[in-house]
Amino acid sequence: MAKFDEDRAKIAALRVRLLEWYAQHQRSLPWRQSSNSYAIWVSEIMLQQTRVAVVAVRYQEFMERFPTLISLALAPEQDVLALWSGLGYYRRARMLHKAAQFVASHLGGNLPARAEELRALPGIGAYTAAAVASIAHGEPVAVVDGNVERVLCRLAGWEAGSRKGGGATLRRKIEDLAGRLLDRARPGDFNQAIMELGATVCTPRNPQCAVCPLLADCKTRGEHKTPRRAPMISRAVGYALSVRTESEAGKRDGPGGREVLLEQRPAQQTVMPGMWELPTLVRSDVPEKDLRMTVRHAIMHVNYYVRVRTVFEDDIEGMTVEGGERRWVPLREAAGMALTGLARKVLTRAHLLPARADG
Ligand code: ADE
Repeated sequence: MAKFDEDRAKIAALRVRLLEWYAQHQRSLPWRQSSNSYAIWVSEIMLQQTRVAVVAVRYQEFMERFPTLISLALAPEQDVLALWSGLGYYRRARMLHKAAQFVASHLGGNLPARAEELRALPGIGAYTAAAVASIAHGEPVAVVDGNVERVLCRLAGWEAGSRKGGGATLRRKIEDLAGRLLDRARPGDFNQAIMELGATVCTPRNPQCAVCPLLADCKTRGEHKTPRRAPMISRAVGYALSVRTESEAGKRDGPGGREVLLEQRPAQQTVMPGMWELPTLVRSDVPEKDLRMTVRHAIMHVNYYVRVRTVFEDDIEGMTVEGGERRWVPLREAAGMALTGLARKVLTRAHLLPARADG
């Protein structure tokens, strides 16, 4: 008997069930109201490595500030990073900005429609190109992200072995299956449906097989071997929180104007260049009596255990490591700057910045 993925009738039935499920169960998300390729591009870049709930809020802020590709291209990079602050993986924002500038100056502001042309732009890989071309323009190209990979491996009963060795062969098999299952009449909906299924039903742990529209075809019907995540490592770090009042800038802003000392990461840093953070303490083991707060902050597979102490202006040189360019920044201005997620978290918890809608 032919395998299900070689049986055209079975594939056709699978598509119908998946698309029906998507029509009923898709989450209402702001970018789903649009078929504008710029809007979809921004959403797909934000959705890489960031949870949908967080993206939903931040996407709207971003689109209000940069409603068109041209407005993004014309903005200074620091403004783009400021709107990205806290979303992490800032390289995504830089590349999005660079690509928008390229399209504005070389392609008359028109984002290419075809996946192959999109891939030629800086920072647009196979996944983003396929997502934008299929969702905005109906090009029949399959997307394969982490969710799709998991859904298809479970469906076909393939063990996702290590990324090394068997990884490339398995990846090709997954891409091939994704291409054969794709509904060529509705590629944008199909791609979003399978990603949505992976995000909400066929989840890494405790998949909801009982309500899955692909249950009848699924070889696995539950969890099976998947590659282990990289173990988290811990790192201790100390930050200096230095706030002053009534400086010249503070006086100009009226009584109570306060400033915080921030440091800009050098442009040649590989991680978060140009972003603003708090000065780093020479000693991360801040004694209890001086401890202002502790914060845990995860970046990729590193858990940062951060101890923050208040440092007075006179002591700042001796107690902190020399880093990038330092500036006393009025708090009002700090809120709109390209702060690292960690700096924003510390300043918010210290009630120096207002909490953001996404927490
Ligand atoms: N994950 C990334 N992009 C998505 C999309 N367009 N729909 C559902 N999940 C996604």
